Amino acid sequence: MRKLGVGMIGYGGIGRVHVMAYRNIPYHYGLTADTINLVGVATSRSETAQKAAQEIGCHFWTADYHELLARDDIDVVDICVPNHKHEEIITAAAAAGKHIYCEKPLAMDVAEGQRIVEAVEKTGVKSQMTFNFRFFPAISRAKQLMDAGFVGRVFSFRGRYFRSSYIDPQKPLSWRLRKDISGGGALFDLGSHILDILYFLLGDFDRVQATLDTLIKERPVAKGAVEKGAVDVDDIALMQLRMANGTLGNVEISRMGTGVTNDMQFEIYGDQGAIRFRSEDPSWLEVYDVRDPGQPLGGMRGFRKLETVQHYDGAKSPDWSMSPNFVRTHAECQYQFLKAIVDGRPGSPTLSDGLKVQEVMAAAERSSAEGRWVAVAEVR
Ligand SMILES: NC(=O)c1ccc[n+]([C@@H]2O[C@H](COP(=O)([O-])OP(=O)(O)OC[C@H]3O[C@@H](n4cnc5c(N)ncnc54)[C@H](O)[C@@H]3O)[C@@H](O)[C@H]2O)c1
Repeated sequence: MRKLGVGMIGYGGIGRVHVMAYRNIPYHYGLTADTINLVGVATSRSETAQKAAQEIGCHFWTADYHELLARDDIDVVDICVPNHKHEEIITAAAAAGKHIYCEKPLAMDVAEGQRIVEAVEKTGVKSQMTFNFRFFPAISRAKQLMDAGFVGRVFSFRGRYFRSSYIDPQKPLSWRLRKDISGGGALFDLGSHILDILYFLLGDFDRVQATLDTLIKERPVAKGAVEKGAVDVDDIALMQLRMANGTLGNVEISRMGTGVTNDMQFEIYGDQGAIRFRSEDPSWLEVYDVRDPGQPLGGMRGFRKLETVQHYDGAKSPDWSMSPNFVRTHAECQYQFLKAIVDGRPGSPTLSDGLKVQEVMAAAERSSAEGRWVAVAEVR
């Protein structure tokens, strides 16, 4: 693969994971260590930028991302900043001719998302969303099976993404709990992932009826502070969805799932079969085939676990039988983008895919506020 220079913009929780993943790509695909050159990093403050550069092992750091965009040795910028800065940075990066790899959710709202897609399309740079859950081998296999019609006519689906990350009322306000920075709460943070997976597997959304709720309405303004500030985003979102092909399903999203660490799941039921996946047990895709003989005594019927484990096409290491993990999904999402740049193809998932997710989230918010079904077309 041609060598590519990467610049990180944002190096917080997920920026660090992205760097770990870039470092792993040469091992996964038998590439030379310098195939991906992590050239520099921009954060919001000089001290954090310098510290990040030391950790990454790169020589360039800045608190002004424009300086990073001005460098000729950077081909790709990887945007890992809070959501309210996505539009500004993506637009500047596109204008600077950099290929763009951007974290989810795409934007703060649909109008921003539309402007982003338009600005990037105009410049012709390559771009890709970090919808990394698509890159569990089990989900790639689910996509193959759905495209091949394995489940037949889809009857219904269920999706959920639960974490327990906000059950402690003393957890202070952070940008994720502020609408002016995050754009939305659990719906944007976790919901964007499960909604992308359902869109990936089932196609376009048509309409939604949702109820969003904030369970802890005030939190300390800082760690240990007595002063409290309002939480103005959702902690949970319950949705009923009708897809463009008529299929009905529901999705539950929560950051208040006591005891659940990080669990994204879906189930799809059809007249020929069913498939289901849980990210807490990501080695397997469970499938049920109605065509299996049901006799004698149940024959061969029942959910089977396909050993998708760590089957990535062309990967050299580690052995396929090792369990896949979250960092590996990021590495694969990045690798597919870098390969797309080198091969001159568009990246996937696209920013337009990110916009589809943005639209259904906006429809869910409007539905919750107005207490009615909202067609996705209404928020475009
Ligand atoms: N795909 C995933 O699994 C996943 C997981 C977590 C977060 N995310 C997404 O990643 C993004 C970042 O989340 P996080 O948890 O890493 O946030 P964070 O608060 O941990 O880190 C944010 C980083 O952005 C930097 N930053 C802020 N404003 C900046 C600016 N103007 N210029 C340069 N740097 C700036 C900060 O200095 C910090 O380094 C969000 O969009 C979030 O939704 C995705």
